[in-house]
Amino acid sequence: MTVRTDDIERAADVLRAGGLVALPTETVYGLGADAENPTAVARVFQAKGRPPSHPLIVHVGSAEQLADWAEDVTATARRLAEHFWPGPLTLVLRRGRRVPLEVTGGLETVALRVPDHPVARALLAAFGGGVAAPSANRFGSVSPTTADHVRAELGDAVDYVLDGGSCEVGVESTIVGVTGDAVTLLRPGGVTREDLEAVLDGPVAVPTDSPVRVPGQHPSHYAPRARVVLVAPGQVAAEAELAQQQGHLVGVFLPPEVARADVKAHAKITVPSSSAAYARGLYGFLRELDQAGCDLIVASLPVEQGLGLAIANRLRRAAGPRPADQLTVPIRP
Ligand code: TXA
Ligand code: MG
Repeated sequence: MTVRTDDIERAADVLRAGGLVALPTETVYGLGADAENPTAVARVFQAKGRPPSHPLIVHVGSAEQLADWAEDVTATARRLAEHFWPGPLTLVLRRGRRVPLEVTGGLETVALRVPDHPVARALLAAFGGGVAAPSANRFGSVSPTTADHVRAELGDAVDYVLDGGSCEVGVESTIVGVTGDAVTLLRPGGVTREDLEAVLDGPVAVPTDSPVRVPGQHPSHYAPRARVVLVAPGQVAAEAELAQQQGHLVGVFLPPEVARADVKAHAKITVPSSSAAYARGLYGFLRELDQAGCDLIVASLPVEQGLGLAIANRLRRAAGPRPADQLTVPIRP
């Protein structure tokens, strides 16, 4: 997994030639293209099977580049950038002229972030421009947190994969919209709401019914193949056992206080008690249960504080309604 200077140079050349590079970030792996090349950007949408109206995040090398990519950058936006970049925070600002509408799905705003991973930073420095990169998974499925996940999911659709090991944070960046002094939480992620509020010294608005086109806001997103059912923590064991008796191959996310041996299921994951470790492991756990052949995953939501807010958001989306053809038999008739 050691990435050498040669590999970085090669990846930067692939970007310059309009190719696609999978790159590690501290959150999840991204599928990157030259943000200023609409043909390359179109290939990203194609490789993911993502509708072109869903905007991409532009990754840049440093907070100093904000004004190159966005307009009307307010003092609040600068403060957030200075405090959290490089890091898992994405700012949605007014689109600078450099940003093609293909990147923003036709919106007049652009999502920007400076990732905090040595390989991503080296690539951005070598390339010089902005890298438009969504998570490197097929649209709607679980985000990749290792280079192997990317290869398994996207295969030949990627021209070059930079292997930077496992992602440290494990869930995507927090996305905030910044207009004037108002900050709106569009997607919870690696930077907690509490940390944002501490830096802003005031509340962050959370829209209940977001008018913004965010794929993560679709009812089903971040979803494994197996159907996900959410129950209260005290009911996980009983629900898993019942579904197993009904003929499902059940995978279970056990709360840390439940003893593994007491639960009858096809595959078991004991959820880490630290939310940082849970976030880091989350997508790998979902993949692991898919690989074990589970058709149903029983889990409960963590307390929605700190990183627990992002974990709960991803689990809810994973459990969201899907197109009928993807549904397995309901667990109770
Ligand atoms: O951690 C991350 O954010 C990862 C890594 C690779 O940086 N990227 C990621 O990208 O999660 P993606 O495409 O899977 O999710 C980007 C989200 C989408 O929900 C998209 O709708 C939202 O950002 N987004 C992008 N531009 C936007 C805009 N102008 N307004 C509102 N939301 C926007
Ligand atoms: Mg994604």
